[in-house]
Amino acid sequence: MLIVADRPGLKRALAAREEVALVPTMGNLHDGHLKLVELARGRSACVVVSIFVNPLQFGPSEDLATYPRTLAEDCAKLERAGASVVFAPSETVLYPRPQRVFVEPPPIAGDLCGAFRPGHFRGVATVVLKLFHLVGPRFAVFGKKDYQQLFIIRAMAEQLDVPVEIVAGETLRAADGLALSSRNGYLGPVERAQAPRLYQVLRECAQALTAGTRCADVEQAGRARLESHGWRVDYVAVRSQATLSPPVRGDTALVVLGAAWLGRTRLIDNVEVLIGEDSGL
Ligand code: PAJ
Repeated sequence: MLIVADRPGLKRALAAREEVALVPTMGNLHDGHLKLVELARGRSACVVVSIFVNPLQFGPSEDLATYPRTLAEDCAKLERAGASVVFAPSETVLYPRPQRVFVEPPPIAGDLCGAFRPGHFRGVATVVLKLFHLVGPRFAVFGKKDYQQLFIIRAMAEQLDVPVEIVAGETLRAADGLALSSRNGYLGPVERAQAPRLYQVLRECAQALTAGTRCADVEQAGRARLESHGWRVDYVAVRSQATLSPPVRGDTALVVLGAAWLGRTRLIDNVEVLIGEDSGL
């Protein structure tokens, strides 16, 4: 496995590689990330994992400074997982001059997480497009854990004609259901015990939808349940998988998304659900 930190190094590492599969990450890798590497290995013999904590996607009061940086451990895990190249650039390598050109993501980027993290998806889309250009992957793997991010990157690749196939990985969870996340490390023991409730509540919402409950009622009940256990809820929302917008009559492939705070930690999760055509939506 090669570890490269700059553009010439990346170019050398990729010379003579035919098809590359890219897994973009911000590091502090857990088994969810490694699952994406496994998925990438199924697509291509050359798997590039990028590790870069992207300042463009953090708001001024967010956790950019404290985001865990564990490059040595990450590289050891990636070596064992069979990655071919780790691209771990510094900020000045990726942004040699202040970034003045950005990807304008689709309007849905201002909704859900984007409503609470202004500019977040613009920063994500911009860095991911740069990585696509630098690495030139045939495949790029993203997790469903960040459902809105996956949706926006798919839209970007499609509408900006990036010749890459976006591959989606299922969310890997701890035994108690909590979605693995680098930010779980911020949780204290009491919060960690409470954290699986987000997934539980989203699953209850999905069940209520299958039983024919109206979306607005499902959202309200989900929010209330989290709040009654001390969570500060950004949103619980029922959306169409195809558009990420509120479902319209005839939509049967839905997703329930939630974002909520436990103390100073913001957690997100989602559950896909299929409902019958006659469910009254
Ligand atoms: P990061 O949070 O490090 O996540 C990297 C990839 O791992 C993303 O595609 C994310 O959806 C996926 N992932 C995270 N937790 C997962 C889990 N429990 N199961 C499966 N996949 C999981 O997302 C980012 O970094 C950044 O925004 C990035 C795309 C790298 C752009 O900076």
